[in-house]
Amino acid sequence: MVYDEENILLMTPGPVPLHPRVYQAMSRVVFHHRTPEYRKTFGECVSMMKEVMQTENDVFIITGSGTAAMEAAIANCVSPGDKVLTLINGKFSERWVELTETFGGKPVPLEVEWGKAIKPEIVSEALDKEPDIKFVAICHNETSTAVINPLQKIAKITKEQDKILIVDGITSVGGDYVYPDKWGVDILIAGSQKCLGCSPGLGMIMVGPKAWEIINKRENIPSYYLNLPAYKKSFEKSSEPPYTSAISLIYGLHEALKMILEEGYENRVKRHRLMAKALRSGIEVLGLQLLAEKGYESNTITAARYPDGVDDGAFRKAMQKHGILVAGGQSHLKGKIFRVAHMNIIAEREILLVLAMTSLVLKELGFKCESGAGVAAAQETFLKNLK
Ligand SMILES: Cc1ncc(COP(=O)(O)O)c(C=O)c1O
Repeated sequence: MVYDEENILLMTPGPVPLHPRVYQAMSRVVFHHRTPEYRKTFGECVSMMKEVMQTENDVFIITGSGTAAMEAAIANCVSPGDKVLTLINGKFSERWVELTETFGGKPVPLEVEWGKAIKPEIVSEALDKEPDIKFVAICHNETSTAVINPLQKIAKITKEQDKILIVDGITSVGGDYVYPDKWGVDILIAGSQKCLGCSPGLGMIMVGPKAWEIINKRENIPSYYLNLPAYKKSFEKSSEPPYTSAISLIYGLHEALKMILEEGYENRVKRHRLMAKALRSGIEVLGLQLLAEKGYESNTITAARYPDGVDDGAFRKAMQKHGILVAGGQSHLKGKIFRVAHMNIIAEREILLVLAMTSLVLKELGFKCESGAGVAAAQETFLKNLK
């Protein structure tokens, strides 16, 4: 077998391919974390993370995957009985309901069909109907359906209505525009293994002043490890996390963030957007349908419906045999879609390769499509962008 776990191309929504510079950084000798040297590295990581998150608010880096940072948001902010409007259009947004229930809050679920976006009007209506809703929780980029929600417009509403807006930006931060301070996001979450281009294991949380007001009034925060005031106190005292830092991951994140800033925020977002556009054009030309509602397609992941007769297991197995790992659907979309992520260092080479391999595998499985048509459409998109 030519392709194995070490040389397969990960087109999955995290983990994603990492630049060798990040692997090298993670293999550095581990130094002690309660030292001026490490504090400097950690402090730089937090400053760079703020730049990538486009915020002046507090940002904390937590050991734990993105879900740990999501849990920190709810555990610290939501008191028993508090109403949280949970906007659902996929598997990850459902997590806000489960977390709210875990900490005794009252989720007010507002669900739209998976594949569709959450429109600002329905948020407005829901808030008018139940004025005692205190929080609104949303997934900015729904990875399970490859839909991006119109966060800026939703944030305008929540700001006007004085609600606390909690945003899962796990697959948008570092790959698409997210301006929490300008838009009025109170809590923003990110994860290391997605567009930020590091290994899994770190969650980031931005906490704005309105969220702090709520947290600071609480007498009891029902979490020890994820207690945000403890993170704030420790960072303000000595630029370090309260508990032993995930040193090797922080070395990796430091390098990954450096690379993001070298590329530049705007350039990086534009590249992610171009890759998404090229992949979508290629997929559609091959005769496949995108799952996402038109106008709300994600720029960091694409989901395509299988045509009749193409089996999910057979397709993904064949793709893997040819050296590319793509993701399947989740929950009721299992077997119906496949998902291709284009995060971090994914660029023209990988997009063209995925399209070429997709048409080869579809043909192997008996689906009729024109060889090379997907590649040609993506090339056209790239060439137009040069003009
Ligand atoms: C949008 C979104 N939210 C939350 C998560 C969960 O993050 P983690 O697996 O890092 O805990 C994921 C992971 O795929 C995600 O894509």
